[in-house]
Amino acid sequence: MKYPETKKILNQAVADLNQMIAVVRQTHWYMRGRGFMKLHPLMDDFMDDLNEQMDVISERLIAIDGAPYSTLGEYVENTKIPDEKGRWDRTMEERLEILVKDYRYLNDLYEKGLETADKEGDAATNDIFTGFKAANDKRIWMLQAELGKAPEIDA
Ligand SMILES: [Fe+2]
Repeated sequence: MKYPETKKILNQAVADLNQMIAVVRQTHWYMRGRGFMKLHPLMDDFMDDLNEQMDVISERLIAIDGAPYSTLGEYVENTKIPDEKGRWDRTMEERLEILVKDYRYLNDLYEKGLETADKEGDAATNDIFTGFKAANDKRIWMLQAELGKAPEIDA
C-alpha cells in the first residue's frame, strides 16, 4: 500500500476541514459588533476556500486508493478542532481569535502533511498541502491585521 502516513493526514484534514467549515459558518451567523457588514460576507469567502480545500484533499485521497471520511459522525469523531454551542456574548475580537487559532492548527497539520508526503514520495500531495498552506497563511495574516497584530506565522 502506497503513502500510508500521507493518507492518514489527508483524512485528518478531511475531518478537520468539515469541522472548520462549521466553525466559520457559526462565526458568519453569530458574529455581532464592529465590522459586521464586512466580516459577515467575508466568512462566505472563507467557507468557499475551505470547501474547495476539503474537496481537493478528499479527491486526492481517493486518487491514491484511500477512503475519505464522509459522515457527520466520522468528522466529529476524528476532528481535533473544538467547537461550542452558538452564543451571542462573544466579541468580534474573540471570534476572529478563534479563527486564527483554528487556521494555525490546520496549517500545522498541512505542514506535517507536506513533509510526510515528501518523505513517502507523494509529490502531488506535497504540492496540494504546500499551496493550501500558503492560502491559509494569507487568511491568518489578514485576520491578525484586523486584530492589530503581526501575522506571527512561525509563532
Ligand atoms: Fe449567509
